[in-house]
Amino acid sequence: MENILSEQEVQQLRAETRGTTKTIHFNNAGSSLHPDVVVDTVIDYLYEEAQNGGYETEYTYREELENTYNLIARLINARKDEIAIVENASIGWWLAFNGIDFKPGDEIITCEMEYVTNLIGLLHAKKTLGVEFKVIPNDERGNFRLQALEDAISDRTKLIAVTHIPSTAGSMIPVAEIGRIARKHNILYLLDACQSVGHVPLDVQEIGCDMLAVTGRKYLRAPRGTGFLYVRKEIQDKLKLFFMDGFTTQWVTETDFKPRNDARRFEVYEKSRALTLGLGKAVEYALNIGVERTWQRVQYLASLLREKLKNINGVTVHDFGDELCGIVTFSVDGMEAATVKNKLAEKHINVSVGKAVSTLIYMNKNKLGNIVRASVHYYNTGEEIDILCEVLEELVRVSV
Ligand SMILES: Cc1ncc(COP(=O)(O)O)c(C=O)c1O
Repeated sequence: MENILSEQEVQQLRAETRGTTKTIHFNNAGSSLHPDVVVDTVIDYLYEEAQNGGYETEYTYREELENTYNLIARLINARKDEIAIVENASIGWWLAFNGIDFKPGDEIITCEMEYVTNLIGLLHAKKTLGVEFKVIPNDERGNFRLQALEDAISDRTKLIAVTHIPSTAGSMIPVAEIGRIARKHNILYLLDACQSVGHVPLDVQEIGCDMLAVTGRKYLRAPRGTGFLYVRKEIQDKLKLFFMDGFTTQWVTETDFKPRNDARRFEVYEKSRALTLGLGKAVEYALNIGVERTWQRVQYLASLLREKLKNINGVTVHDFGDELCGIVTFSVDGMEAATVKNKLAEKHINVSVGKAVSTLIYMNKNKLGNIVRASVHYYNTGEEIDILCEVLEELVRVSV
């Protein structure tokens, strides 16, 4: 994959992110460094609230706040009334999943890369509602098996729930092809796009999902505590609601009420307006650069890193599959992932520990314990990759 951002553009983007001067940040799958404009937007808004009052500041910024929905809708090619702003991907996923009217005996199909929160949701539904779920194992090359999905579908299949990019591996699943199968069989389709938003171009029309759960802090570079849920308009009325307040209802009388006529029925009234604006700024920032473009650079940097890691004796790269993303996972012989992380942190290099539990089915199948996760973003550079690899080489050298 080509590096399509010019050196000058990368330097400009780095200059717009204070954190890049202090840290070599390869923990973008945990939480990215925010662009300065995102941080300043949040802080300035909080100052304004403190000076002028929360409701008054909201009124002043009502158009910008509203525009956050437009920006998110543009990012994923949805409609504004299909977007609910929520605190994180887990809440979004649970709101969508638990909104489905499951009956005992209904079946759900998932993938081996499913995130732990979602797996817990599936297990919980199995325990409490008597639904069953089937896991589609990847093939021997690490790719999702579309034919196995087709074969697993029965007249009891109610939902396909899968994770686009897993927490602890560099692979991806073919979400649009899965969507075509879901549509062909008229099955609901819930996609965890937590790691893929801002990372890979996402188009819910092309993917054909009914629900999509997203977090802000990862590849989107939005503040922590932000996320959103997409729910296709046609199915909004079919999902149960767990919580309602005066904002999420369209009207209420002493004897009845009606939920709002859009996805904001899944929200609650009280949330951080500062963070909502910050989320909007991060989306705008991503749109301005173009996720199609940054995705190419991420792939370029990730494959560069994988190649360099493979050349270090004592380092094993664990990413399987034909289509790989910006998450690079590896281990160092004889060293716990946490030790590697801590040693790198001493040199101001951030990586994270990919916990085996996060992608339990896949990690168990491949006999992987905790691994080191170095996730690259477009603002990382080849020089940073060289420094990471030099430090790792030194680590391996002194540990033998
Ligand atoms: C694939 C995946 N899905 C869901 C989540 C949960 O996201 P959040 O912590 O925003 O709820 C994560 C978090 O790491 C994740 O990696």
